[in-house]
Amino acid sequence: MKNIVVIRRFQPGDEIQFRKMINNEIMGSLNLAVLSNLSKETTFQLIILSSAIAFIFFDMPLKICISLIPIVISLIYAATFMGFTMTAVQIDRELSNIPRFYMSNAFSCFWVAEAFKPYHKSSHSNQCQYTIMTKKQFYGSKMHVSSQCTKIVGTIGLLKSHRVENGAWIKRLCIDKEYRRKGIASMLLTTAINFAINQGYSCVDTATSEYIKGSRELMFRTGFQLKQMYHKRVMRPLTSILFYELTYKIKNDRTSLYFKSEMDGISQPHLTLKSLIENVNKQ
Ligand SMILES: CC(C)(COP(=O)(O)OP(=O)(O)OC[C@H]1O[C@@H](n2cnc3c(N)ncnc32)[C@H](O)[C@@H]1OP(=O)(O)O)[C@@H](O)C(=O)NCCC(=O)NCCS
Repeated sequence: MKNIVVIRRFQPGDEIQFRKMINNEIMGSLNLAVLSNLSKETTFQLIILSSAIAFIFFDMPLKICISLIPIVISLIYAATFMGFTMTAVQIDRELSNIPRFYMSNAFSCFWVAEAFKPYHKSSHSNQCQYTIMTKKQFYGSKMHVSSQCTKIVGTIGLLKSHRVENGAWIKRLCIDKEYRRKGIASMLLTTAINFAINQGYSCVDTATSEYIKGSRELMFRTGFQLKQMYHKRVMRPLTSILFYELTYKIKNDRTSLYFKSEMDGISQPHLTLKSLIENVNKQ
């Protein structure tokens, strides 16, 4: 029997499982961010500036001036660590209050991907094949899952955008490391975009940092386009992170209606968003 992943709306209690996953993901990119910050021009400028000040103004010997290099590196590590920790704390606060942030009105929502796996199966999740389906399909399939354990392996949230009028904003797309490259993020994105279409949004925007591996490839593949790139200062002026803002344009009412009629019946997870839109264009 194939393992299954069900895409469903958030239920209170789910957050206990995914808070740690998202936090680990944020802190996991810390080393990459430190390395990237160290190779930036400002690091070299800081090293030269601090050595020059020590040498010229304080008459320090060259050896001591050189010893400033590890101090600058430690400072950059500490600044990056603090920046990431602050972000993780902020995100964790949001995740501990999903009902208030995402589920309190009709224009926002939070979904999770829940994997069902037999208790006895010892094979690593990476080697397993998964069928991804909606909750409706899951109930329709009448599968027996009493001998299976469940785990939240993916998340995504959608809110009304503060920047774009009638735009939606996607946040917290994250997939458990063991469950990547199985189409779970694509399915969560499709679910969120379908929701945005049904709610009458005109576009769906999101931002991804230079350290999130694969997210731009995934977004471009789903139909997002690059809107702008910007540097966000974290612990000024020591560190900064490059962000890519991407947008998915919801074309017209026809697309929306098409999705609406699709979603009224059992939705079709095997159809990607791209193929649904290709079908609309063909009509
Ligand atoms: C980016 C991410 C969401 C992708 O999830 P996923 O479930 O593996 O994505 P999918 O299986 O749906 O991938 C669909 C396509 O996207 C592209 N893609 C996904 N991950 C990729 C990667 N690491 N490198 C290159 N392309 C990638 C591929 O084209 C892939 O298709 P393929 O597998 O047929 O080649 C996941 O890696 C992740 O959660 N990263 C961390 C996110 C994060 O840091 N969040 C911070 C907290 S908000």
